[in-house]
Amino acid sequence: MSRLPGFHKLSVAERRQQVIKACNLDSADDTALGDTNDAMASIADQLIENAIGTYPLPLGIATNMLVDGDAVLVPMVTEESSVVAAVCNGARQCHSSGGVFTTHHGQGMIGQIQIKGISNPHAAAVEIRKHEDEILDICNACDPRLVQLGGGYRGLKTRVLDGREPQLILHLIVDTLDAMGANSVNTMAEKLAPQIESWSGGKVGLKILSNLADERVVQATAIWSVEDLDGSKTGGSGMNGESVRDAMLAAAEFAQLDPYRATTHNKGIMNGVSAVVLATGNDTRAVEAGAHAFAARNGHYAPLTFWERNNDGALCGTIEMPMAVGIVGGATKIHPTAQLSLKMMNVNNARRLASIIAAVGLVQNFSALKALATEGIQRGHMSLHAKNIAIAAGAQGAQVDRVANKLIELGTIREDVAEDILKEL
Ligand code: MEV
Repeated sequence: MSRLPGFHKLSVAERRQQVIKACNLDSADDTALGDTNDAMASIADQLIENAIGTYPLPLGIATNMLVDGDAVLVPMVTEESSVVAAVCNGARQCHSSGGVFTTHHGQGMIGQIQIKGISNPHAAAVEIRKHEDEILDICNACDPRLVQLGGGYRGLKTRVLDGREPQLILHLIVDTLDAMGANSVNTMAEKLAPQIESWSGGKVGLKILSNLADERVVQATAIWSVEDLDGSKTGGSGMNGESVRDAMLAAAEFAQLDPYRATTHNKGIMNGVSAVVLATGNDTRAVEAGAHAFAARNGHYAPLTFWERNNDGALCGTIEMPMAVGIVGGATKIHPTAQLSLKMMNVNNARRLASIIAAVGLVQNFSALKALATEGIQRGHMSLHAKNIAIAAGAQGAQVDRVANKLIELGTIREDVAEDILKEL
């Protein structure tokens, strides 16, 4: 049943028909896969192989964000309840301190070239370095437009790995400007390979971008005053600002000390980061792989954020992570909603986009820590989740809110309870 010869050559509509037949789908299933004649279906067909339809996800707007002094409405694509609300709340609470401020460390993407079959890798590295002018020319000739715009080859790093036999690894550092840069960097690495073999006397193995983009790191910082943290005024946790701050610092320390907690801590950060990366048509897996590897760069897995109490007694948070995102090329360029996301944020360079994404990651982490350290995550999360449960139980239209409200009132957010409520309605 899974052998569908010539499937890739068919149109979206023809493929859809084959799958409907093979999987016994009905007309409701057909509708759920989207219209095969609309613009999204043809974009899907351009983007991937064997497209049979599209898969819509919610796109929400995070409000209240101030990044480097500029207000921005941030589009987020996520299936998880409370992710968008958490950013709105966290951003509101640091508004009075000016929002989030960012800096960038580097703008380089790394292309790796693996050289094997050399007994003296250090000497081979010296030989290669003698040809840096040629390396620059070969790399830059791969992408003249990038060079024209001010980007291109920036330098070379060499590393020696002690495996079964020594390996020399070259890192080409390339400023890919407003592109994520995978295509340019991979082309450069492949183009250089024959010369690298002749200069080093070795055999080139892999030639590929590294997603540990630690030459393209963004840092974001924000301050939450104790007044803004005060849960006793707002009817929130009932804790005063100092107690909230101290509980959050203890929660952050837990993540510093324990990789099990750090993983969840970083997962929460990525809830926000990946949602904006996805909304802008960027590569979520690239950013995620880079983030987690960066989190483990000192030999143990650690949180991507750092929290401290500043001299005024306020809570100060900082995030630092690689951010390989672009605003040109790939799905970013082709997908109309990705374009729209960039337009809503008024983003016209990759650095600004990276700043906004890092800011969202930090604010997301703030809200998670605050909820966890005070009233617990379930109260806010479950009240939003109640709607999902209501829908899963079969509620439709106005029933959704009525069932969800009843679930919240009962304090039991379970599908079987939702079914009972629905029957009563
Ligand atoms: C849930 O998606 C994310 C959290 O678990 C993050 C965290 O624990 O910091 C709430």
